[in-house]
Amino acid sequence: MSTTQIFKNPRAKHNFQGRTCSITSVGSYVPDRIMTNAEMEKIVDTTDEWITSRTGIRQRRLAAESEYTSDMATKAAQRAMDKAGITADQIDLIIVATITPDMLFPSTACLVQNKLGARRAAAFDIEAACSGFIYAMEIGQQFIMSRTYETVLIIGAERLSSIVNWKDRNTCVLFGDGAGAAILQHRPDAHGLLTACMGADGDKAMLLCMPGGGSRIPATSDSVAAGLHHLQMDGKETFKNAVGAMVGAAQEALKRCETDISQIKLVIPHQANQRIIDAVGERLGVEKDQVFVNLDKYGNTSAASVGIALDEAVDQKRIVRGDLVLLVAFGAGLTWAAAVIEW
Ligand SMILES: CC(C)(COP(=O)(O)OP(=O)(O)OC[C@H]1O[C@@H](n2cnc3c(N)ncnc32)[C@H](O)[C@@H]1OP(=O)(O)O)[C@@H](O)C(=O)NCCC(=O)NCCS
Repeated sequence: MSTTQIFKNPRAKHNFQGRTCSITSVGSYVPDRIMTNAEMEKIVDTTDEWITSRTGIRQRRLAAESEYTSDMATKAAQRAMDKAGITADQIDLIIVATITPDMLFPSTACLVQNKLGARRAAAFDIEAACSGFIYAMEIGQQFIMSRTYETVLIIGAERLSSIVNWKDRNTCVLFGDGAGAAILQHRPDAHGLLTACMGADGDKAMLLCMPGGGSRIPATSDSVAAGLHHLQMDGKETFKNAVGAMVGAAQEALKRCETDISQIKLVIPHQANQRIIDAVGERLGVEKDQVFVNLDKYGNTSAASVGIALDEAVDQKRIVRGDLVLLVAFGAGLTWAAAVIEW
């Protein structure tokens, strides 16, 4: 055998012809436990009126004591798989986007792989905070497009209740737990994921972060006492950056598709704050009924938010096959991403 044969790139047999990638199905899961703003009033100095008027959030879901990110991710994934009639042995790759993995390692994706019994699947996590679902989708579609894999499972899942500081009213009222999942495959009759624009600005990394628990500040009694294992955020600066980045990414994605906002059936933004969603919508020139909102029920579920919203939008028939959908998100990193999909 000649060396050229030994080292022949297996993709070469396809002449690197790309193919399209579509979302076959979506699924989501939120824990049963509802925590209302009235309950928040009992633990920090806040009011339902303040939270509702400043954020739009009325309640959030909290994971049960023994319910971890991998459990919620697995439930969302199973629902997406059931809807499409996909069995665990068909899954080639699992990507989990999360900032609240069960453990620093092994990856939550490996735990999900085991829980699903998806023995054939490769598995890894990505961390792009609230942009995680769109980042995972764009990464996953590369494997479909390149014909490396037939079926990719992407999941955004978070147990943010385990990292928020329940004594900090600036942050604890904002976040919730949950998971959203999607099955990516080639569908010959659809254009699917038309484009995705991803971006990042590490210069502003400390605007929204959890300083402790990594290699820089490993857990010690001092680091725990200093509250370094909680999420910390400069809300005002984060807000300003969110609006500009989401609008920029959305406009770039529309431009790449040579379309405009009037052609979009539904905008599904990351669910962080109603005022961010309104400001982004206004600058993009969307009609009110063109934007999907469910943050009143769940708060900010970070990487899970876009997946949960997409699942509910499909369930409520706000989108049907053939509609153009714009997903747009922003999060810690800083990161941002927007995608245009022919649903
Ligand atoms: C956090 C956020 C809701 C705060 O809203 P804001 O209008 O910027 O509020 P401010 O920061 O001006 O705070 C106003 C006052 O409300 C107070 N406040 C903060 N949280 C409060 C709460 N839960 N209840 C009552 N008062 C609160 C502040 O302490 C401040 O009081 P002070 O003026 O006496 O210092 C807003 O900045 C935000 O949504 N930022 C983006 C957060 C986000 O989405 N992060 C995730 C990105 S993916």
